[in-house]
Amino acid sequence: MVEVGTEVDVDGRVALITGGSRGIGFAAARELGLRGATVVLLGLDQQRAYAAATELEKDGIDAVGAHADVGDLDAVNRAAQQLGSLAAPDILVVSAGVMSDRMTKTMRTEGDEWRRVMSVNLDGAFHAINTFAKGMIERRDGRIITVSACLGRFSGPGTSGGLAPYRISKAGVNALTRNLAAELQWGARGVLVDAMCPNHTRTDMGGPDAPRSAVEAADTIVWLATRPDRNPAGEVVPTGLLWEDRQVVPW
Ligand SMILES: NC(=O)c1ccc[n+]([C@@H]2O[C@H](COP(=O)([O-])OP(=O)(O)OC[C@H]3O[C@@H](n4cnc5c(N)ncnc54)[C@H](OP(=O)(O)O)[C@@H]3O)[C@@H](O)[C@H]2O)c1
Repeated sequence: MVEVGTEVDVDGRVALITGGSRGIGFAAARELGLRGATVVLLGLDQQRAYAAATELEKDGIDAVGAHADVGDLDAVNRAAQQLGSLAAPDILVVSAGVMSDRMTKTMRTEGDEWRRVMSVNLDGAFHAINTFAKGMIERRDGRIITVSACLGRFSGPGTSGGLAPYRISKAGVNALTRNLAAELQWGARGVLVDAMCPNHTRTDMGGPDAPRSAVEAADTIVWLATRPDRNPAGEVVPTGLLWEDRQVVPW
């Protein structure tokens, strides 16, 4: 990608955001769209995804709605076929997610609830990457950002138990991110792969009393999506990491 100051120029590039129809994914899509990227907003609900794209179009953003259950690989593949070349984005943000039921300690979690959360949060992340990242990997130029959660960290609140499907799905997302970064040689092949924690955010998931806005939560996503892959000395920047507020935090 062409560098403009400390940001790469995403004008004319394609960014696909799973979970782009609402919340943090939508805020990230708007920010990338305002920088000139064509944004593909993929959600579960068709009408909501199309309405979200229409809303961004009012701001002059080139936005396209798409829908699929990210937990269903066939459905994701069908969406990719319908999107054509837009299914090979330069930036992939994996934000689609669901929270587990409040009382889901490991021994109180029913199998259906475990599968529901794993299907969207972990299978969905794999399906999105496996489907939409092929083009950027072939072109050796791209960014993959998985929206994880502090609750998935081994070193932080993820160790305190409860919300088992959610925490463990996000720990899985962290492992998936790091493993893929290693497979892509830690950025040496032109694709940066990183996870981020948005922190407690005012969205349908986070609720109205959360301390930060979706725009604030999306800041690190946009920063990761637009940072150059090399520093001024020509070295690949650190990648394959977990970020919070533009800083690396322990997994
Ligand atoms: N909000 C927080 O406090 C917080 C904190 C830490 C991490 N996170 C993470 O941040 C990400 C975004 O969260 P949010 O707060 O923005 O959530 P949100 O407002 O509830 O939005 C969820 C998004 O995911 C999509 N989605 C859900 N199930 C899907 C499925 N099966 N297939 C395709 N898309 C699906 C929704 O699409 P529809 O509109 O079609 O339903 C929607 O676009 C999640 O991964 C979440 O775990 C959030």
